[in-house]
Amino acid sequence: MLFPLLSKLAAVIVVALVIHMIEAVYGSSAESDHLALLEIKSKITHDPQGALTSWNDSLPFCQWRGVTCGRRHQRVTMLKLRGLGLVGSLSPYIGNMSFLGYINLGSNQLHGSIPPEIGRLYRLRSVSLFNNSFTGEIPANISSFPKLTYLDLQFNKLSGKIPNAFSSKSRIIELALDTNHLTGGIPPSVGNLTFLEILGLTENQLEGSIPDSFNQLKNLRIIDLGVNGLVGAFPSFMFNLSMLEILSFSENQLQGTLPSNLCLSQPHLTWIGFGSNHFNGFLPLSISNCSQLEVLTLPNNYLKGEIAVDFGRLQHLNKLSLAANKFGSKDRDDMNFFSSLSNCSNLEILDLFSNQLGGVLPNSLGNFVGGPRHQYHLHMYLDLQRN
Ligand SMILES: *[C@@H]1O[C@H](CO)[C@@H](O)[C@H](O)[C@H]1NC(C)=O
Ligand SMILES: *[C@@H]1O[C@H](CO)[C@@H](O)[C@H](O)[C@H]1NC(C)=O
Ligand SMILES: *[C@@H]1O[C@H](CO)[C@@H](O)[C@H](O)[C@H]1NC(C)=O
Ligand SMILES: *[C@@H]1O[C@H](CO)[C@@H](O)[C@H](O)[C@H]1NC(C)=O
Ligand SMILES: *[C@@H]1O[C@H](CO)[C@@H](O)[C@H](O)[C@H]1NC(C)=O
Ligand SMILES: *[C@@H]1O[C@H](CO)[C@@H](O)[C@H](O)[C@H]1NC(C)=O
Ligand SMILES: *[C@@H]1O[C@H](CO)[C@@H](O)[C@H](O)[C@H]1NC(C)=O
Ligand SMILES: *[C@@H]1O[C@H](CO)[C@@H](O)[C@H](O)[C@H]1NC(C)=O
Repeated sequence: MLFPLLSKLAAVIVVALVIHMIEAVYGSSAESDHLALLEIKSKITHDPQGALTSWNDSLPFCQWRGVTCGRRHQRVTMLKLRGLGLVGSLSPYIGNMSFLGYINLGSNQLHGSIPPEIGRLYRLRSVSLFNNSFTGEIPANISSFPKLTYLDLQFNKLSGKIPNAFSSKSRIIELALDTNHLTGGIPPSVGNLTFLEILGLTENQLEGSIPDSFNQLKNLRIIDLGVNGLVGAFPSFMFNLSMLEILSFSENQLQGTLPSNLCLSQPHLTWIGFGSNHFNGFLPLSISNCSQLEVLTLPNNYLKGEIAVDFGRLQHLNKLSLAANKFGSKDRDDMNFFSSLSNCSNLEILDLFSNQLGGVLPNSLGNFVGGPRHQYHLHMYLDLQRN
């Protein structure tokens, strides 16, 4: 009699112990969420708006400011503390809130490293630590989360390499690592991100070339890799990515030519920026078909030949910079394209400085100076040699 009862009791105790151990190891319970939030608060050294005063035991933690819990379970699913002026560091206990799907701590003054424990939150869908002062490396395995769609770490002081762990199962749509101190090459596994629409790596110290794997990024709409140390040939397949709206690689050391069919298979282009690189060759006539184009900046390259583009259909054109190239042949016909610009009623910046353009300013200049908008806004930089 006694023996089976004892063994039943023992089994119950063992099960309870195992559950307790699992929870202890993985930190997975409502109480561990509660504790994690208190730890997060304890690492905030300055809270100028008193944003975290509600984080006290007079309210259940699911009702604390910026905290959202799931309906059925009392587990934290969202942590949203954006732009509250919080100063401090991010507690590693955040890695215990295993139901977290959404983290937005953008525009505070958090410093220290991004705790690697964040790499335990495999339910994460969206992470923004935008505009803080985080240092150290990007936790390597954050890139391999199965559900992550949005990762915004822009405007921090992150260093080291971009982790090369992007899986083809990843669902990342936006990856924004701009304005940090990242070094090394762009990892080829970024090409695995076939859902990617926005890639921002601008203003880092990235080097090496653009990986061939990027030809798989068929959904890419915005790519900004400007202000880095990228070298090598600009891959021509980039001009085949038909969803592209913003193509920006300014201030690198890339070599290449603009294809003669530019814009024809990329009807959505609004921004073409290749300034301060080593591009050569000619300005494609097909640009006249880029009817959505707002910005065309190609200064400081080795582009040459006649500017023969008909700009008349580029109604949205706002900035045109072809400065510091070798356009023109000091001929009086060099400025013939100019009259087509008179249709560009949104043009605010026109920079043709330091080329070999000859001729005289055509009469159509009057259309600029007299126009209601241009009168105040159009800045022109020309150094025509008069003959
Ligand atoms: C939570 O995380 C911290 C630090 O990462 C750890 O020390 C602690 O044991 C974890 N577990 C619980 C239940 O808080
Ligand atoms: C605790 O939070 C409640 C609710 O926001 C707030 O009214 C109260 O002032 C807080 N108490 C302390 C001691 O900060
Ligand atoms: C960045 O955060 C600071 C406060 O820390 C804020 O003043 C600034 O507007 C933020 N910048 C952007 C671009 O949101
Ligand atoms: C990521 O790294 C953390 C800390 O090193 C670890 O606890 C976690 O299990 C890792 N996550 C994945 C998905 O590999
Ligand atoms: C792409 O992801 C797969 C796993 O999904 C991995 O085996 C492969 O190495 C990745 N490709 C690159 C170029 O890293
Ligand atoms: C771009 O697309 C065209 C037509 O679809 C194809 O002929 C060409 O090989 C492609 N170029 C690259 C570099 O992928
Ligand atoms: C503009 O596109 C049309 C049709 O898509 C094409 O016939 C024409 O040649 C293109 N213009 C230039 C200058 O490439
Ligand atoms: C200016 O734009 C109008 C309307 O889009 C168009 O009909 C006209 O042909 C354009 N003019 C030039 C010089 O391209």
